[in-house]
Amino acid sequence: MSGSVLITGGAGFIGSHIAEAYLAAGWSVTCLDDLSRGKREQVPDRATFIEADVRSAEAREAIADGGFDVVNHQAAQIDVRVSVDDPATDASINLVGFANILAGASRGGVKRVLLASSGGVVYGDPAVIPTAEPTATLPISPYGVSKLASEHYLRVLGTLGGFEGVALRYSNVYGPRQDPKSEAGVVSIFVSRVLAGQPITIFGDGEQTRDYVFVRDVARASVLASSLASVSRGAQLDVPAFNIATGTETSVNALAAHVMTALGREVPIEYAEARPGELSRSCLQVEKAAEQMGWRPEVAFDEGLSALSAWFEGTT
Ligand SMILES: NC(=O)c1ccc[n+]([C@@H]2O[C@H](COP(=O)([O-])OP(=O)(O)OC[C@H]3O[C@@H](n4cnc5c(N)ncnc54)[C@H](O)[C@@H]3O)[C@@H](O)[C@H]2O)c1
Repeated sequence: MSGSVLITGGAGFIGSHIAEAYLAAGWSVTCLDDLSRGKREQVPDRATFIEADVRSAEAREAIADGGFDVVNHQAAQIDVRVSVDDPATDASINLVGFANILAGASRGGVKRVLLASSGGVVYGDPAVIPTAEPTATLPISPYGVSKLASEHYLRVLGTLGGFEGVALRYSNVYGPRQDPKSEAGVVSIFVSRVLAGQPITIFGDGEQTRDYVFVRDVARASVLASSLASVSRGAQLDVPAFNIATGTETSVNALAAHVMTALGREVPIEYAEARPGELSRSCLQVEKAAEQMGWRPEVAFDEGLSALSAWFEGTT
């Protein structure tokens, strides 16, 4: 199935890969972004571009009048520490902005809305690893609250507004175009520093774990979720929510060693004080996406690392 999709945050890291994946699958693509972090040149040439803030009337009207089949919401304030320092701004972009987008979707007769949620934050510090979707949600940061509340907005406004909602709960996404200055991008930071021959810093003892998923696998999940014949609303929040991850748990120490081996270069590792509030373990089960969407991660970690390093070296 293909149709017409508007991607908020379509000039960003993940959003721009999603735009490419939809285009490759024959969709007509519009990207909306305020370019606060995204880059205009990351929007594919064949996509239409609208420069607007998700909180604006312009964004809402573009969706209400655009005749889109699907709205794919990637735009967000993505930094956990910004959400702690300035929770009002986080809520303004992530909650008020999303409610505005959903109001446009409702008026525009959009059939389905996808939300970029986060499996790294909605479960809080989960008791069971790898974590499955029905696990109790208990965010521990304002950013996590805004992602979980967005899932609730999607459920409630979808029911009221007549569209289906799917929440894709990503783990730690990595790949080309991820800003190495961004807090989310530890793989990007390590690869850029190893390529530059600079030491890498590990916070805490480095035994904290994460689940690293390649960005093009994440983008493929959006296209599959948009093409499902129907989405069950269900009575529970986890019914239309899917973890998008690998199910593989990697410590930060192992990541650092792996990056150096893959790139064939050694740099010193410096250990710094653990950052408060950091999760000790995070890894997500992905069986539900496999069973219900036919999605599985396909890109092996070494393959993803070499795509990322090729991008840093300007060869892709
Ligand atoms: N990167 C990860 O590991 C990860 C993990 C879980 C969830 N997510 C979610 O995935 C989505 C994409 O994240 P990303 O890593 O590509 O980050 P990103 O910062 O590259 O992309 C976000 C995009 O949204 C745009 N944006 C921000 N505020 C906006 C506003 N008010 N109006 C319009 N556009 C605005 C930015 O300019 C940027 O292009 C986000 O919703 C994020 O919370 C990311």
